[in-house]
Amino acid sequence: MRLNFPRPSRRGLLAGAAAAALAACGRDAKSQDEPSIGPLPPLKQGARFPVGCAVTTDHLRDPAYAALLTREFTQVTAEWEMKMEYILQDDGSLRFDAPDAIAAFAKANGMSLFAHTLVWYAQSPAAFQRLDGQGDAFAKAYGDYIASVAGRYRDAAGWDVVNEAVAEDGNGLRQCLWSKNLGQIDYMRRAFDAARAAAPDAVLLLNDYNLESLPAKRATFMRLAETLLKTGAPLTGLGTQSHIAADLPPGAVTTSINDLARLGLPIHVSELDISLNRAQGVLVSRDVWRERQRRLAGEIGEAFARLPSDKRVSFTIWGLRDSDSWLRSQRENPSPPWDEALFFDDQGRPKPMLADLERGLAV
Ligand code: GLA
Repeated sequence: MRLNFPRPSRRGLLAGAAAAALAACGRDAKSQDEPSIGPLPPLKQGARFPVGCAVTTDHLRDPAYAALLTREFTQVTAEWEMKMEYILQDDGSLRFDAPDAIAAFAKANGMSLFAHTLVWYAQSPAAFQRLDGQGDAFAKAYGDYIASVAGRYRDAAGWDVVNEAVAEDGNGLRQCLWSKNLGQIDYMRRAFDAARAAAPDAVLLLNDYNLESLPAKRATFMRLAETLLKTGAPLTGLGTQSHIAADLPPGAVTTSINDLARLGLPIHVSELDISLNRAQGVLVSRDVWRERQRRLAGEIGEAFARLPSDKRVSFTIWGLRDSDSWLRSQRENPSPPWDEALFFDDQGRPKPMLADLERGLAV
């Protein structure tokens, strides 16, 4: 499928290649895992809601990975292959091979698909940059993109319609190509309207991060949700990414989830990982952080499970094994010890914090 865009520039093509090379970095990093524990029941067994995992098509081709994933989870999210950077080509054509493969995997394995993401400040592909400042042409291409992509996956359980709209420090909203061309609130309202027209049954969410560590950012996020609702946007859920670190004080995730729930919209814990390496503290041993990590895993599971059943969208972990985590490719950690932010070790063995999460989710 091709949308109506002008031809790509060479600069755009080079930027795309550089992004792909960066994304591939760090996949083979080795770690010193903590000892795993014995077999546990599958994560999905005790949960009364969908439990999801972020995946890539590369991973799904590995039979051992696929077996572990389908044993433990009931839902998948594309880690990056449903983003604009993957789908929208420089010439305005749309590429659906990987997202189709992920959707087909979900269907073949009786899993639901959670779709991520339609509009993200961090991605402004060349095809849209060439329409910058062109009013109606920009707006038409924007609506067409969302209609095509959300329509193709209209059976998805939900869509992160707008990702990370709030400024890093919580002070206002981010300026981006979308706000510049369509208006600060209007780019979001349009996205929600177009997504709803294309995918009538999907939960449509705003999704953001650091909502538990920065109460001011959470407040801005909630005000934004209220503003969108007032404009009539079909916003029907809130995603809290929950890329948290092991030094997050006890109680912060519970406070955040309960606070978000005050708006009355269902909640998605949408990208959970609990970083050891991002925890700040002098003279704190790795084992102390691991202990804190386990407590946080139990706490977030329990806080989510205690929401009323109609206020839970799903609970998603941002990768299967430690070695699959995006945190392994962050430049801030160029050498061991590698981060161990997920619930299965590099070999796919369950880690102690999985037991804590399972206990929390089963309350
Ligand atoms: C954010 C985005 C995700 C992903 C992660 C890192 O949380 O929402 O799509 O890029 O960062 O993997």
